[in-house]
Amino acid sequence: MSRRVFAIANQKGGVGKTTLAMNLAAGLARRGSCAVLDADPQGSASSWVQLATMPSNPSVPVIEVIADVRDVVEAVREEYEYLVIDCPPSTESPRVAQTLACVDCLLIPVLPSPMDLWASTRIEDTVKAARSDNPGLHAFLVLNQIEARNAMARGMAEVFREFTVPALRSGLSRRAIYRTAALEGRSVYDLGPRGKIAAQEIESVIAEILVA
Ligand SMILES: Nc1ncnc2c1ncn2[C@@H]1O[C@H](COP(=O)(O)OP(=O)(O)O)[C@@H](O)[C@H]1O
Ligand SMILES: [Mg+2]
Repeated sequence: MSRRVFAIANQKGGVGKTTLAMNLAAGLARRGSCAVLDADPQGSASSWVQLATMPSNPSVPVIEVIADVRDVVEAVREEYEYLVIDCPPSTESPRVAQTLACVDCLLIPVLPSPMDLWASTRIEDTVKAARSDNPGLHAFLVLNQIEARNAMARGMAEVFREFTVPALRSGLSRRAIYRTAALEGRSVYDLGPRGKIAAQEIESVIAEILVA
């Protein structure tokens, strides 16, 4: 199993890093043991689990990172089959550099608007720089908050062509259930029929990243 330490990063806040991290981890935890490393000093992944009124099943521990991310990964990587690292909204943060130095695969959530996509281009340079130390680093854009109605496909295709980082075929739609899950401190897998379609979206993402 080569692809097992994942990071979620984007220099922008509010693009869905924590949403993707927590739900991805819940999906991976159905395949093997999984922990989230919360490398964002704002600690949104940590507050997410503190909100939980009942432990999710299977539960995913969230480890707050206060040391060098590489040391924390080294310390726990034998314990878990999968790790998901939720990064702070920055490209300059040492936490991001430490993370990219030791992960197998970086996922970059982006909102489906050309402006948001352009605002995310700086992470490409960060990926390129990280590959000098970590040549095996895979990186993918993940569209988040896709709305069926907007005709973003055409305009976005142009912007995507400017990226050297490829986009996953699967993305996350804009769904109230993602917010509900966060408010309840749970993943979309834990919400029964209400979360089913969202959980299928996460499953598609997982299917792609585990083989890509
Ligand atoms: N696919 C989605 N559909 C609906 N709301 C979403 C979706 N993704 C994220 N959100 C909401 O958008 C806000 C920002 O998401 P969050 O994951 O906290 O972003 P980040 O970690 O990048 O700052 C949160 O309120 C979250 O619940
Ligand atoms: Mg966050």
